[in-house]
Amino acid sequence: MTSRRPTIGVFDSGFGGLTVLKALLELVPSADYLYFGDTARLPYGSKSVETVARYAVEAAHYLEAHGAGLLVIACNTATALALDRITAAAQVPVVGVVEPGAEAAASVSKNRKVVVLGTEATVSSHAYRKALEARGIDSREKACPLLVPLVEEGWVEHPVTEQIARIYLDEAFADGFREADALVLGCTHYPLLKALLHRVAPSHVSIVDSAESTARAVVRHLQKLLPPTEAIQEERRALPRLKFFATDSVEKFRRLGPRFLGHPIEDVQHVDLKE
Ligand code: DGL
Repeated sequence: MTSRRPTIGVFDSGFGGLTVLKALLELVPSADYLYFGDTARLPYGSKSVETVARYAVEAAHYLEAHGAGLLVIACNTATALALDRITAAAQVPVVGVVEPGAEAAASVSKNRKVVVLGTEATVSSHAYRKALEARGIDSREKACPLLVPLVEEGWVEHPVTEQIARIYLDEAFADGFREADALVLGCTHYPLLKALLHRVAPSHVSIVDSAESTARAVVRHLQKLLPPTEAIQEERRALPRLKFFATDSVEKFRRLGPRFLGHPIEDVQHVDLKE
């Protein structure tokens, strides 16, 4: 990483991490970004710790070999299951999404009760529960496996998605968690459902987008890594440079990616990671 212009490697199982990249582009527009989507091997959310850790470490090595000076593990599942393994394998600092999400939830929850939505694997790892417990917060984690395919289908405002979200949230906010006052979006795909979830969640609930809190954590890291502000301020005027790597079809990445990133995707390169 040069002192004036950081190269940030963003890793996800596929397209969803583009929501984290989108948040990063808003806060750190003057960086070079390398985005790696492991589209050939998604979903990670239904896989074992061993498999997810192996895939994620391979991707982290790839990004480092291509010049990333900081790695952002945008995938909640990879962070929850394998952040320690990725950090141990990497030569550069690594930022995951769980700690920033838990931190943001802790800062908005007044009654110290929080609901976390995520994939099966994220929920089974209890990574969010542990991170929230460490901050004195009681949590209920709820696996919502149907939401990822619905978002990928583009059904972000579809009545079927609303009905399914209502069932998940009714279950999550039941019993001892009726008064929970924060809802953590613990999966890369859920920020696309923010408007729908606002409608469906109890009205007193604040929504915590771990993509946004992660982008803020990256800014704090960069402030530690880079010399203080003048150079960064100057560079802020420069445009981001983006390069995308996908392990499955480049055409599909170009087609689906913009739904998550919010603008067209040009420079995608196919990567074949050998098993
Ligand atoms: N990126 C994953 C996550 O944030 C969701 C998609 C998948 O299961 O691979 O947990």
